[in-house]
Amino acid sequence: MTAIPLRPPRRLVDLTLDGEPVRAPEGSTLLDACRAAGKDVPTLCQGDTLTPKNACRVCVVEVEGSRTLAPACSRRVEPGMEVRTDTERARHSRKVVLELLASSTDLSTTPGAAEWIEEYGAEPDRFGAEAARVAEEPKVDNDLYVRDYSKCVLCYKCVDACGEQWQNTFAIAVAGRGFDARISTEHDAPLTDSACVYCGNCVEVCPTGALSFKTEFDMRAAGTWDESAQTETTTVCAYCGVGCNLTLHVQDNEIVKVTSPHDNPVTHGNLCIKGRFGYQHVQNHAQNQD
Ligand code: SF4
Ligand code: SF4
Ligand code: FES
Repeated sequence: MTAIPLRPPRRLVDLTLDGEPVRAPEGSTLLDACRAAGKDVPTLCQGDTLTPKNACRVCVVEVEGSRTLAPACSRRVEPGMEVRTDTERARHSRKVVLELLASSTDLSTTPGAAEWIEEYGAEPDRFGAEAARVAEEPKVDNDLYVRDYSKCVLCYKCVDACGEQWQNTFAIAVAGRGFDARISTEHDAPLTDSACVYCGNCVEVCPTGALSFKTEFDMRAAGTWDESAQTETTTVCAYCGVGCNLTLHVQDNEIVKVTSPHDNPVTHGNLCIKGRFGYQHVQNHAQNQD
């Protein structure tokens, strides 16, 4: 059960969304207002536990009086704002962003990407077969999680989660410039030789599957990964007394990955190596019976 934190009441701000009057709590973002009104605005670099980075621009909307399109994930609501989420200009911008991303990276495991590409009529192939792609083999250098940077859209969420926003380990950062910019450990060392403490908090926030549990990576390779056959059960980690919530993702009676509810006031979606990856002892394997 998740406790609801008590906060001082917030003033409601009046604005219009696609011509309809709406009210949104002061300090909330246009994305919050859109979601509350049931409008589907695509997002990639936005994270509900992270400070907006404004990196992908796939969430742009049109604000009356603004010269440029506004990123809905970071722009705060203001009284009297007239916001349009579905104008030709906003749709065209999202289309081009999706084309550029999908032509250079592999979005096959990005939730929502295929639907957005269809909805906005994006044609990633129009840049031709010679379009530059981020093509590299997945980095499988430990038993816990895999880094497949051919799927990375450089949203920086993993860097923020590993750095000052949550984990304060700073095991990864952006290296290189321009098209060569990439997420890397110091000196591109294997994860096992880096500062990583395997909390998996970067995996939790990655929007594309560039970072994934080794179990998921192996099951996808074997063709057995099936989210529709998985159940999710939230429980309390028993390793220590902090009381972190764990959500166990189970397929065929096996825990296949562990996440944590982002609205949990203890974890905010973050865990340590024990809660995130230390679940093998509860599996009914012969080697665990001794
Ligand atoms: S597992 Fe934790 S410590 Fe390692 S890179 Fe990810 S966030 Fe940083
Ligand atoms: S690895 Fe994932 S979280 Fe990190 S920058 Fe790439 S897409 Fe974003
Ligand atoms: S989701 Fe808003 S800029 Fe990326």
